[in-house]
Amino acid sequence: MKKIPPGVGPKHPQVVVLVGATGDLARRKLLPGLFHLSSAGFIPGCRIIGVSLDDVDADGFRTIARDALDRFSSREVTAARWDAFAETLDYVPLAAGSNALGAAMEKAERTLGGESRRLHYLSVPPSAALPAVRLLGEANLVSGSRVVMEKPFGMDLASAVSLNADLHEVFSEDQIFRIDHFLGKEPAQNILAFRFANGLFEPIWNRNFIDHVQIDVPETLGLGARAGFYEATGAFRDMVVTHLFQVLAFMAMESPTSLEPGPISEEKNKVFRSLLPIDPKDVVRGQYTGYRSEDGVDPESDVETFVALKCWIDNWRWAGVPFFLRTGKRLAEGQRIISIAFREPPKSMFPVGSGVGAQGPDHLTFDLADASKMSLSFYGKRPGPGMRLDKLSLQFAMHDTGLIGDVLEAYERLILDAMRGDRTLFTTAEGIERLWEVSSPLLEAPPPVRLYPPGSWGPKSIHQLVAPHAWRLPFERGWRDPNPAGS
Ligand code: BG6
Repeated sequence: MKKIPPGVGPKHPQVVVLVGATGDLARRKLLPGLFHLSSAGFIPGCRIIGVSLDDVDADGFRTIARDALDRFSSREVTAARWDAFAETLDYVPLAAGSNALGAAMEKAERTLGGESRRLHYLSVPPSAALPAVRLLGEANLVSGSRVVMEKPFGMDLASAVSLNADLHEVFSEDQIFRIDHFLGKEPAQNILAFRFANGLFEPIWNRNFIDHVQIDVPETLGLGARAGFYEATGAFRDMVVTHLFQVLAFMAMESPTSLEPGPISEEKNKVFRSLLPIDPKDVVRGQYTGYRSEDGVDPESDVETFVALKCWIDNWRWAGVPFFLRTGKRLAEGQRIISIAFREPPKSMFPVGSGVGAQGPDHLTFDLADASKMSLSFYGKRPGPGMRLDKLSLQFAMHDTGLIGDVLEAYERLILDAMRGDRTLFTTAEGIERLWEVSSPLLEAPPPVRLYPPGSWGPKSIHQLVAPHAWRLPFERGWRDPNPAGS
C-alpha cells in the first residue's frame, strides 16, 4: 500500500456520525469515500455511526454499505479491507432518539480508546438539516465536534439567514463546514495553481484580454430516485447558486494573500459582492419533455431541470465581460468545462479566405473531470504553400503524468480536510447569503420554463442568450486522446 505522507490526514482518530446514511449521496460517495480514506490509511482510526429514517440494525447497515461499495466504489474492495471497514460501522435509527445516539458515540469512543474527534456529516435535504442539528444537540454531541453541512444552504436569502442563525444557536461558525464538492475536485484547485503559481497567464487574466467566459456543466443524468429533492430545488439552486458560482469565484478572484482559509474566502466573497443581481431577462429556464410524468413529480411542475444565464462581475478586472453559465439534466453530453475566450486581434494582415478567425477566438479550456485536461487553442499555419490558417491547440491531460491514481475524489478530499479542521475549500455564511441576495430578482420573477427534448443542449433560446458569441459545447474539435490506439 502507498505510504501516506505525514500531515495529510487528521492527527486523531475520528468518530463520524453520518446522518442520511442510507441516502443517495451516502451510498454513491460518502461510504465509498470513507472506505477509501480508512483503508488507505489516511485516518489513524475511524468509527462510523449511520443515522437515518430506515429501521435497520448495525448488520442491516453493513449490508447497505457493502452494496454501496460494490456498486459505487472506484477502488477494489478486498475481503480483508471490507472486514476491517465493516467492523467500524454502527447504526442508530432516527426513531431511537438522542439517548441511543449518545450511547453509540460513547461506545465508539471507548472502542477507539485515547483521544479522538467527532465529525458529524449531515447528508440530508435542507428541510431535515435543522432537526438533525437539534438531535446532535440533544445527544450532547456538539462540544469539540465539527459538522459538515450539505447544500443547498437554504432556499433563498431569508431562509439562508434564518438557517444560519438557527445553526449558530447550536454550533459556532468555526465548527460548521459547508461543503461544495466542486471545490474539492482536483481540477478546481488546479485553477488556483494555474493562475497563481505561474507568471504567464495572470497578466492577461482580465477585461483587456478576455472577451467572455463560459462555465458549462451539462449532464446526461436524469433524476434517478431524487424527484422529491429536485422538485423542491431545481437546477438553479442545485447547481448554480452552489457549484457554478463557487467555480466562478476561483476563476475570477484576485490573488489571495496566502493559501489560508481566511484570505481565500475573503477574495471569493469580494467576487460575490461584485456580482450584479441576476436579471431574469438574462436567464433561460428549461424543463425536459417528460419530466412532469416522472414518479414523484407534480404533473404541472414549473421546476427547471435546465438553466442558462448571463452574469456580470462589476469590478475593475471584469467589468463588461459576460460570464455565461449553463447546466441541466438529460442533456446531450456530460461535461464540466470552463472556457475562456480571448479577444481577437484588432487588425488582420491575413488575406480573406485564409481562415483567420473562422473558427472562433483563441480559447483556454479547463475540463473539470477527475482526469482533468486543459487546452489552449490558437491559429497556426497549415503546412504547405501559401498562408492558410488552422485552429491548433496545446493540450495537457492529467492522464499523461502517470499520477492519476493519486487523485482523491472530491468528497474524500473534503472529508479529510474537515477532519483536519482545514476550511480552505469550504464556503462561508457570508458568501452564501450574498449569492442568495444576487439571485433574489430571479427567484422572485423566474421566466417561464421552456421545454427541451431530452438529449439536446437545452431550449432554443440559449443561442440568443449567448449571441453574438456561441456556446463552446459541443466541441468542434475533440480533445486529443491521451492514449491513442497503438501508443
Ligand atoms: C450534485 C447535484 O451536487 O452535483 C447533482 O445535486 C449533480 O444534481 C451533481 O448531478 C454533479 O456532480 P459531479 O461531481 O457528478 O459533477
